[in-house]
Amino acid sequence: MKNKILITGSNGLLGQKLVNLFSAKDDFEVFALSRGKNRNETAKNYTYYNIDITNAKKLSQLINEIKPHYIINSAAMTNVDECEKEKEKCDLINIEAVKTIVSAAIECNSHLIHISTDFIFDGKDGPYKEDDEPNPISHYGLSKLKSEELIIKAKIKHTILRTILVYGLVDNMPRNNIVLWIKGALENKQEVTIVDDQYRMPTFVNDLAHACLLSIQQEAYGVFHISSSELLSIYEITLQIANAFDLNASFIKRISTSQLNQTAKRPPVTGFDLEKSKKILNFPVLPFKNRLQVFKNQLLPSEV
Ligand SMILES: NC(=O)c1ccc[n+]([C@@H]2O[C@H](COP(=O)([O-])OP(=O)(O)OC[C@H]3O[C@@H](n4cnc5c(N)ncnc54)[C@H](OP(=O)(O)O)[C@@H]3O)[C@@H](O)[C@H]2O)c1
Repeated sequence: MKNKILITGSNGLLGQKLVNLFSAKDDFEVFALSRGKNRNETAKNYTYYNIDITNAKKLSQLINEIKPHYIINSAAMTNVDECEKEKEKCDLINIEAVKTIVSAAIECNSHLIHISTDFIFDGKDGPYKEDDEPNPISHYGLSKLKSEELIIKAKIKHTILRTILVYGLVDNMPRNNIVLWIKGALENKQEVTIVDDQYRMPTFVNDLAHACLLSIQQEAYGVFHISSSELLSIYEITLQIANAFDLNASFIKRISTSQLNQTAKRPPVTGFDLEKSKKILNFPVLPFKNRLQVFKNQLLPSEV
């Protein structure tokens, strides 16, 4: 018998990667759910549903119909400044919809894999361990922390994967990410201004999708941190991107966060301690430079 898996946010960066990964496996039957038209042109052998996860009735009906063994919730309102401006909308997607998913997961006895963020921390003291004290400084971070708390409180089979600054490529992407943005700008000889006082460990989307698979294979429950292994300033990250793609880094100008004037506050230094994921999930802990080369090789065929 195949394992039924429901992937929410299947049009997103992680969502599409997950559909591609699981639909290529013989032992999984994949159900994908997102808003509007299906944007994934790569994967085959799966069923797509156009459902808004804030529609509690439709969402719980669908989950109860499918009765999935696994649910991966990659749907979220992910634009940090939009979440700050539209707090109610953010809460409906990032908290209320998670409540609906949790209730349905209880009824179906599903293992819920939920994606969270480094933005649950205040960034005063990174890199962080899984049990370090959260203290979000943005509404996005707060909404994701509340979603974690309600999942943990529900005492269902769950895995919470926190991640940082995700990059990669999928079909018909509506949103950019740091690698594609910097690569595109430098190829077009456009100047970019980049902060040098925020530190992160960027995450290749393929690695995050693989971590979801590992948590199923290892039956690993609880909270895990998933990212690359070295803490870098965002300025250093962009220099590594320029270097990996042989592009002219002189178009990258460094600035400080105070010059940016963003709506939502950003934690200065996040980054993760990855020991728990390495030990329990068997997650490969690798530097950004290494993951960039893998991503670059994936991009090559479409460029020739
Ligand atoms: N990207 C990062 O740097 C990052 C960092 C840390 C944590 N995370 C977390 O990782 C997860 C996946 O992120 P991602 O980068 O893949 O995000 P993404 O590309 O923005 O994908 C999220 C998907 O969710 C869908 N969605 C949003 N609201 C919905 C609704 N009401 N009903 C149905 N679908 C809805 C979006 O649909 P539309 O495409 O139609 O908007 C989008 O396809 C999220 O939980 C995010 O919080 C991401």
